[in-house]
Amino acid sequence: MNNKKYALITGASGGIGSAIARKLASDYNLILHTRSKKDKIDKLKKELDTEVICISADLSNFEDCQKVFNICKEENLDVEVLVNNAGMTLDNVIFRMKEEDFVKVIETNLYSVFYLSKLFARTMMKKKSGRIINIASISGIRGNVGQTNYSASKAGIIGFTKSLAKELATKNILVNAVAPGFIDTEMTNNLNDAVKEEILRDIPLKRYGKAEDVAGLVYFLSGKDSSYITGQVISVDGGMNI
Ligand SMILES: NC(=O)c1ccc[n+]([C@@H]2O[C@H](COP(=O)([O-])OP(=O)(O)OC[C@H]3O[C@@H](n4cnc5c(N)ncnc54)[C@H](O)[C@@H]3O)[C@@H](O)[C@H]2O)c1
Repeated sequence: MNNKKYALITGASGGIGSAIARKLASDYNLILHTRSKKDKIDKLKKELDTEVICISADLSNFEDCQKVFNICKEENLDVEVLVNNAGMTLDNVIFRMKEEDFVKVIETNLYSVFYLSKLFARTMMKKKSGRIINIASISGIRGNVGQTNYSASKAGIIGFTKSLAKELATKNILVNAVAPGFIDTEMTNNLNDAVKEEILRDIPLKRYGKAEDVAGLVYFLSGKDSSYITGQVISVDGGMNI
């Protein structure tokens, strides 16, 4: 037993989520969420030198988000940091995009952020302390061909972050968004080489981002050195959105 507070990281089985878990483990106990990759989370847990609780849930529906919250409440976990990282893509140009693919991406990427923030902000308000860090995307800032659903969900996260930061500021809860550019993870692995080369030409730093690049910023936003920062959208994109 230690006296560290908890950080909840959604989508912790993914590339960026697991890098965030490794980084935050020095300062926080962790609640690691996965939708279906329990084996990956169990493996990650073994690496980490902090208390770790694993939870499986499909965050695109409110009932599962409530389940996550209830587990934290029943276990009396002091959740100081919520990292809304879980996300998915179902890319297609608009004429070929099925309605269900548009809805699924919005539910997974945006509704989940609303559900979990609503649930956890209440307990953060009571203790007058907390951090909510939402993983947006450069696509939500600049748009991207084939990603009307994804861009809309990420632009939604940006507006949501700014409004929530204003609502919760007097309760000492900081709400910020991180906007990664092209990060080398499973999500970007399936793009073909020609697309990847075109993206690389668009990155001033001339390299793809690493999950650790995003994790470093999330760590900063979860710590005391960022206590005067709220409502911001900070890019980690090698200069892609300049
Ligand atoms: N990789 C990039 O280039 C990039 C760029 C910008 C933003 N992002 C964002 O960063 C975040 C992490 O992405 P990643 O690159 O690590 O991708 P990833 O595919 O490796 O991980 C995504 C995670 O989200 C989880 N998830 C997906 N749908 C879910 C659902 N319905 N319920 C619960 N969990 C669900 C997955 O299980 C997985 O753990 C996402 O929000 C993504 O949109 C990634």
